[in-house]
Amino acid sequence: MCGIVAYIGHREACPIILKGLRRLEYRGYDSAGVALLTGELTVYKKKGKVQDLENFIGGRNTHAHIGMGHTRWATHGEPNDSNAHPHYSTSERIAIIHNGIIENYAALKTHLQKQGHVFHSDTDTEVFVNLIEEIQTQNSCTLEEAVRLALHEVIGAYAIVVLSRDEPNQLIAARKGSPLVIGVGQDEFFLASDATPIIEYTNEVVYVNDYEIAVIRDNKLEIRTREDVKQTPYIQKLELELESIEKGGYEHFMLKEIFEQPRSILDSMRGRLELEAGHLNMGGVRAYEQKFVNAQRIIIVACGTSWHAGLVAEYLLEDLARIPVEVEYASEFRYRNPVITERDIVIAISQSGETADTLAAIEMAKSKGATIFGICNVVGSSIARATDAGAYTHAGPEIGVASTKAFTAQVTVLTLLAMIVGHKRGTLSETKLRELMVELSNIPAKVEQALTLDAEIQVIAEEFKDVTNFLYLGRGYNFPVALEGALKLKEISYIHAEGYPAAEMKHGPIALIDENMPVVVIATKDSSYEKVVSNIQEVKARKGRIIAVVTEGDDVIPAMAEFVIEVPATSEVLMPLVSVVPLQLLSYHIAVLRGCNVDQPRNLAKSVTVE
Ligand code: AGP
Ligand code: GLU
Repeated sequence: MCGIVAYIGHREACPIILKGLRRLEYRGYDSAGVALLTGELTVYKKKGKVQDLENFIGGRNTHAHIGMGHTRWATHGEPNDSNAHPHYSTSERIAIIHNGIIENYAALKTHLQKQGHVFHSDTDTEVFVNLIEEIQTQNSCTLEEAVRLALHEVIGAYAIVVLSRDEPNQLIAARKGSPLVIGVGQDEFFLASDATPIIEYTNEVVYVNDYEIAVIRDNKLEIRTREDVKQTPYIQKLELELESIEKGGYEHFMLKEIFEQPRSILDSMRGRLELEAGHLNMGGVRAYEQKFVNAQRIIIVACGTSWHAGLVAEYLLEDLARIPVEVEYASEFRYRNPVITERDIVIAISQSGETADTLAAIEMAKSKGATIFGICNVVGSSIARATDAGAYTHAGPEIGVASTKAFTAQVTVLTLLAMIVGHKRGTLSETKLRELMVELSNIPAKVEQALTLDAEIQVIAEEFKDVTNFLYLGRGYNFPVALEGALKLKEISYIHAEGYPAAEMKHGPIALIDENMPVVVIATKDSSYEKVVSNIQEVKARKGRIIAVVTEGDDVIPAMAEFVIEVPATSEVLMPLVSVVPLQLLSYHIAVLRGCNVDQPRNLAKSVTVE
């Protein structure tokens, strides 16, 4: 689930690994560890932060040119020192780091215990390394062969790296379902869960595919399938700047990413929205344009914030392209028995491109013949590679666990998609298309303007930082924004918050409203404005404390609300791109005032690569 780093080459391995683990901290984790071939196979590991591990390592021997490190996000066994990775095999000859879950670990463990293996942790991972050792002993084979055979026996998801004291000049890695990238340097190799620990050393990378085993030995990288068929490593050039993964003067990545939105939204439109020429252009859509035009239905699958972007897309695609849309939680969709046909298009939305449930939903829809269109931020990610076609969001690396700029970039790309398809289907007139193009091109400036509300929002955050509940209400295009605002607050400030369609409030949540309940109402001037004003009255009548996000110049709501946040006017269909910004800032400031770890909120992982 979380982070893997490994190094083999001519430099000292430990500092590279520790720095790499720091780069991966954003993914969320609870403990960290390293294994180094110092002559011995030495493991240091600790519950807590990478800093705790560094303190623990202190002046101990770390002299090695081969090693690996791990940040753990516990799935099996609580976060503590013994459950932290790396894990030794019983003989301590082999060590492993593992991201993912071994589903059949219990049966394997019972079997291995009968063979005399002794376990020191509650993890599924320790079973994996003992299985490798058992196979190696039984077959008197090489570590590589033992790993290969072990992969046939484990069920689940993994990215692993294995080291052996007895075969000290090699790193073995494998993946199925969890990401793994190899950086190819000059006489050195780097392995990691994503490219962030690698880019300062090399921009040449190989993405390991599912069921592949990578062996780095004698300064050579060899990739084979689990069936032992040799593969030619496909070396790609990374286009990632080091500064894009650093804080650049901001206190937190989340704040930096919120403030980056004018640029990231522009980047997501770059080369796609050609205002002068009057046309829209999306490479990934071109070959599938006819499919979209003839689609009988679009199903959107995603999780979390990406699912909220999917909800905005439902409004967009139905409004502009008149295609029926269903938006599904990937985790539910994959286990139902949904009716999918070859005329359906499935759009998978994912920032990381590694979310396990979204990947599984794609595979399932694919097997039923649907066309899969991916919208991902991370280039080369598993989802980007598993789809038939797609569009990158180009928001740049998102390090804060709470997704912000990825959301607005996803919505921008989905807006472009709806406009292209609507225009092709004849449901969006030329005039309306032109209008929307102009308005979309103004969005970065409007987001910039919304960001100037920062100081005002800090005042509101101060006022509400100690409450225990929040309600967010919105209608139409602003309903998914209400959900997103509530999710942001929950994630980073640990305040319970619920997003609701404003009109639905009467059917239940209204019972919660009293003089202590802050209610954020997104009430911009749109087709349901009057209705939302009535909803505000209903809250007010029950003494709820209203914080309203309104369109600049609104002279009705300020008289009713305790706090008003004015955002610039834009077309109704584009409003989520602007109205979400103050909500991101509100959650950020409340979390900071509560002393929460904004970039690495408790229990959360940046990308959920396990079910
Ligand atoms: C957003 O703030 C969350 N941390 C989370 O809900 C996230 O959006 C979700 O896990 C989906 O991730 P993905 O976009 O990388 O697939
Ligand atoms: N399932 C393993 C554990 O609980 C690996 C978790 C991870 O991916 O970090 O230790």
